[in-house]
Amino acid sequence: MQDDQEDRGVHPAQAGGPPIYVQIYEQMRTAIEQGEFRIGERMPSEREIQRRFHVSRMTAQSAYRKLEDMGYVLRHATQGTFVAARPQWPSAVRKEARFTPSKSWRQLGGHFLEDLMESGAHAYRFDFEVGRPDMDLFPNASMQLLLEDLLTRKPSEVLMYSATAGLPALREAIARRLLPQRGMDRLGVEHVLVTTGAMQAIDLIAKLFLEPEDLVVVERPTFPGAIQRFRAQGARFAEVPVDDDGLDVERLEHILRDLHPRLVYLQPCAQNPTGATLSADRRQALLALARDYNVPIVEDDAGGFFAGGAGARSLQSEDQDGLVLHVGTFSKLIAPGLRVGYIVAPANIVRLLTSVKQMTDLHTGPIPQLLLEGWLMASDVGEHVAFARRVYAERLRAALAELEGGPLQPVLRPRSGMYIFCRIQSGLPAITLQQRSAEHGVVFAPGDEFSPGGELGDHLRLCVSGLSVASIRVGLQRLRQLLREITPEA
Ligand SMILES: Cc1ncc(COP(=O)(O)O)c(C=O)c1O
Repeated sequence: MQDDQEDRGVHPAQAGGPPIYVQIYEQMRTAIEQGEFRIGERMPSEREIQRRFHVSRMTAQSAYRKLEDMGYVLRHATQGTFVAARPQWPSAVRKEARFTPSKSWRQLGGHFLEDLMESGAHAYRFDFEVGRPDMDLFPNASMQLLLEDLLTRKPSEVLMYSATAGLPALREAIARRLLPQRGMDRLGVEHVLVTTGAMQAIDLIAKLFLEPEDLVVVERPTFPGAIQRFRAQGARFAEVPVDDDGLDVERLEHILRDLHPRLVYLQPCAQNPTGATLSADRRQALLALARDYNVPIVEDDAGGFFAGGAGARSLQSEDQDGLVLHVGTFSKLIAPGLRVGYIVAPANIVRLLTSVKQMTDLHTGPIPQLLLEGWLMASDVGEHVAFARRVYAERLRAALAELEGGPLQPVLRPRSGMYIFCRIQSGLPAITLQQRSAEHGVVFAPGDEFSPGGELGDHLRLCVSGLSVASIRVGLQRLRQLLREITPEA
């Protein structure tokens, strides 16, 4: 261990962020990426890490295991740990940073979504990784006509600055044509804020409602983008497990009573990553709890269009008290690249969120907004939704059948949605599997980031909506075969 360690990008771990071992991992990986540890160089010993960071042996080992899983280091049984030749994870390849990022940025930890987006740009043959719709369902012909029509209009109609809350015509079309698909038919333009994807919706809600140290209730597991965004606001987390009937409402009540969280974030319908949908009983119990404890509920309905049964209506459609903020998106229904989402909320909250948005991006791009408004007004939205729901449910069934008998065990048995969350029965870290399977054209989302507390490293999320049934079968066969080769007892 060199004495100039502090100058080589390694700083004491910070409390309140991701688990300590992840913070150590992040610092070490940044130091490697910035060339402060050179390829082939020996890394500090685990004992040295223990001493420097005041952590247990297990924490030091976990940090090094993650560095190894991600391909940054090679561990040798007797000689120590060395910087590996070339890390394989996409965001690992970074330009040298000239300026030190702020402390709060360093505290964020993780580049999960960035890596996911980058991997989305690769053409893997069996891509179960990115949560994406099947682009064959994209209404190509009508969108082309709409686009041509837009290009014939005056630039001032299409390319000028526009209202922060969204084009009135799109807000109206969302209220009248789209929200009724989710059982929400009492709403007007004043209840709809157009956002740059659901991700921005979560961002605006975090900015408006959360102070550092506020407690946010999330499902376990949940959408990593929300974890990252709430964490960036300095939030702490309480996790509530999810089963086939959705969030465990009894557990939630204990947390509401004892810990007074600032807000509850959940996906009641076709949850990402488990596909769970909140049952009718639990939904009523949840709304009663929100009322009793006067706590806002953020309903992320990104995958809600594809939910059947109790999920055919959004939670917000049954909320009489204005406590549910509904987040929606066109990303899964039409195309994620359009970057259009929305928040449905009481009019006064929409006004506040609009002020926050104005500081973020002024407004969402008018061309995607006009395209979507045209599509909503001209097409049979209900038919599109029903068709996509059927197609994805069939893909889910095919994937679940293919997974029968291990060695990947679905955690729940989703009937709708786009995802299956699985446990690797042998306990192999999903990241290790990912590095091998990518060479065979099969990728998925490793599970670790789907919980703020971590410990889901031997889980993974399969997104099945973007692949045909035939590709799902072949891709999963390859994955199971590879897993059996890596861990023969599996
Ligand atoms: C549950 C959930 N919320 C939000 C998002 C972000 O969606 P958007 O593309 O609209 O930003 C996603 C994307 O995968 C998601 O799964």
